[in-house]
Amino acid sequence: MQTKLYIKTYGCQMNEYDSDKMADVMRACEGMVQTDKAEDADIILFNTCSIREKAEGKVFSDLGRARALKQAKPGLLIGVGGCVASQEGDEIVRRAPYVDVVFGPQTLHRLPQLIAARRASGKPQVDISFPEIEKFDHLPVAQTTHGTAYVSIIEGCSKYCTYCVVPFTRGEEMSRPFADVMREVASLTAQGVGEITLLGQNVNAYQGVTEDGDTVDFAFLLQAVAAQPDVQRLRFSTSHPREMTQRLIDLYASEPKLAGHLHLPVQSGSDRVLAAMKRGYTALEYKSTVRKLRAARPDISITSDFIIGFPGESDADFEATMKLIDDVGFDASFSFIFSARPGTPAAEMADETPDEIKMERLRRVQARIAGLEQQVSAAMAGSVQRVVVENISRKDANELAGRTENNRVVNFPGSPGMLGRYVDVRILSGTMHTLRGELVIEP
Ligand code: SAH
Ligand code: SF4
Ligand code: F3S
Repeated sequence: MQTKLYIKTYGCQMNEYDSDKMADVMRACEGMVQTDKAEDADIILFNTCSIREKAEGKVFSDLGRARALKQAKPGLLIGVGGCVASQEGDEIVRRAPYVDVVFGPQTLHRLPQLIAARRASGKPQVDISFPEIEKFDHLPVAQTTHGTAYVSIIEGCSKYCTYCVVPFTRGEEMSRPFADVMREVASLTAQGVGEITLLGQNVNAYQGVTEDGDTVDFAFLLQAVAAQPDVQRLRFSTSHPREMTQRLIDLYASEPKLAGHLHLPVQSGSDRVLAAMKRGYTALEYKSTVRKLRAARPDISITSDFIIGFPGESDADFEATMKLIDDVGFDASFSFIFSARPGTPAAEMADETPDEIKMERLRRVQARIAGLEQQVSAAMAGSVQRVVVENISRKDANELAGRTENNRVVNFPGSPGMLGRYVDVRILSGTMHTLRGELVIEP
């Protein structure tokens, strides 16, 4: 019987990407198949996130449940990877001694050796080091059946925003060599992938070394990927407002394969708060970048992230954020209440705003963004959208789910044979999160 692997992923797209890599590694070395039922698994892996306190707390409660499974099935192996593992290391084994292996975002390729060492020694294994981008040299070729795929181009982050754990959990920025990225893109398009999302905490900080020893930037990489005939559409996430170069902005005018959607986290509309966060731009600079983007691609959809209740955020600071939202006209965006993360400078800053006020601010931001998101969806009704068919709809097996250029999901009747293909869909109606549509049949 084949051994089974269950992976639970928390956090961002980087973690989703890493989880796929863990599955690739385990498939290649132990011949494991993936299951979506933890009860059936021989190995359970948690790919964790520590961006906010809530995400971290969730892991320990889920670990408690895995422990109960292990009591019933003593051979079960439990592994903890990702950002909590990276930050806590040995502490995880101390708190949860039934955990067998602890590994970080940069050591996931060593899972087979860690598991072997665990079996041989009978002792939990912890490896959360940051070897120089070694992981990509040890990963088997990705396998995919979807029409879309992620490709990591830069790992880590060197921005050190004062509230954020990422530079500590994932290490400093490290770009993958240019040829390495291009090889992964080619192997994905050979499997029928038409839509590629380039991934990193700050993709626009990319500085990739070529085989000739030159260094190329993100705009160069985007052009090179777009030039592949089998790449139909190209996205990237996340980019930093500080590094939106004119070369990159110009690509929105000259490169039709580049999707008309950009996630550009702003965090706050107050210059005082932006400075305290160490973001490195003002609200005006951010707006000027958006203006240039819209000059290059008039219908570009811009989404963002907001942190509400950063230490010292006054009413006036918050109103500046509301004003920025109105000025820019963001599409679907994420907003979070500031969470003090141990070891970050912001965790030490005086924070006198009562929780009720923060909650009220969050509610206002979310209502405003929901209104804007709704407007965009409603305006799409009647239009024809080119979508890539990503999935069979979760609710109805006769329906497909596709992704529009501006990153909306649309459900429409269709056959599973269309998975991974590009089709034209007429939007019939749009509510906030999902659109309904029908296939446009050529006469
Ligand atoms: N590298 C990206 C995003 C990183 S994390 C960027 O800089 O834009 C994703 C989002 O989580 C951030 O954009 C921010 O809005 C939020 N976030 C990060 N740390 C946080 C914290 N301590 N409390 C609340 N939200 C946080
Ligand atoms: Fe965190 Fe800032 Fe880096 Fe984004 S840019 S990952 S918010 S430190
Ligand atoms: Fe979370 Fe780590 Fe991503 S902290 S958001 S999983 S980089």
